[in-house]
Amino acid sequence: MSVDSSTSRTPGAPDAPTSDGPPRLTRLTFHGPLSEARAERIVRRIVVSEPRSVLDLGCGWGELMLRVLDRVPGATGIGVDLNGEDLARGRANAEGRGLGGRAAFVEESATDTAHGPADVVLCLGASHALSSAEPPLATVEALRALRGLVNPGGRVVLGEGFWQRTPTAAELAGMWPDARADEHLSLGDLVDAAIEAGFRPLWVEAANDEEWEEFESAYRSDVEEWLASHPGHPLAAQTRAKADAQRANWLHGYRGVLGIAYLTLVPVVG
Ligand SMILES: C[S@@+](CC[C@H](N)C(=O)[O-])C[C@H]1O[C@@H](n2cnc3c(N)ncnc32)[C@H](O)[C@@H]1O
Repeated sequence: MSVDSSTSRTPGAPDAPTSDGPPRLTRLTFHGPLSEARAERIVRRIVVSEPRSVLDLGCGWGELMLRVLDRVPGATGIGVDLNGEDLARGRANAEGRGLGGRAAFVEESATDTAHGPADVVLCLGASHALSSAEPPLATVEALRALRGLVNPGGRVVLGEGFWQRTPTAAELAGMWPDARADEHLSLGDLVDAAIEAGFRPLWVEAANDEEWEEFESAYRSDVEEWLASHPGHPLAAQTRAKADAQRANWLHGYRGVLGIAYLTLVPVVG
């Protein structure tokens, strides 16, 4: 599922930073289909156990991690990502909220990370950062890695893709290059895989249509405005082709077919 060419992207995959071009992802609070209301419920669910440490793998700018740190005085967090621009945004947000001394943003791969274990481990839209296997084996391997990274009594929040139903051949052809019907698990199989990896599913939920529409539109809206006002810019043609391909992937491919589940998981002792 980690496809990111110049014209297409898989939701959850990294995207290339821009220079001297359109603004990038400025209208996203989270880098995924996650509403304020759902984020608040997830945070409330995981802070009740008063975690002391948070590890956010494939953190981007680490918004959920910062919200947890904000709610638990004294807790510390480490976010790990490869994208220096997003990490810098996370550091600036942490400083702005008085969390700079408790939040570290580290530019490195999360695969086989040396960080952890932690009381709360977050992996949102980033299971591909934990395994080099092809999906859906990557999901299974990521779950095993997460089980090894969470302290007893802790919580894992995994945001992961799943098929809401089996995609048709036409829908697969409209998605990212080489999209496969066996690329994702169903929600039921995803939760079964979490149990198999040594968790109990404390909470199972999935992004709704409104969260997807907010995310997909916000993902491109600053680029669309830039395109409308910079038609003659040297980067306009390639930027337009990329935005048009991404929107087509969504509207002709995975809309209503690809789901994003948010699993709050408790490790089984032993
Ligand atoms: C869809 S974004 C999600 C970001 C963040 N978790 C959130 O929900 O806002 C996926 C992130 O995974 C990161 N990523 C991809 N491969 C990685 C790796 N091997 N190690 C660390 N981060 C990685 C990307 O740079 C990107 O920031």
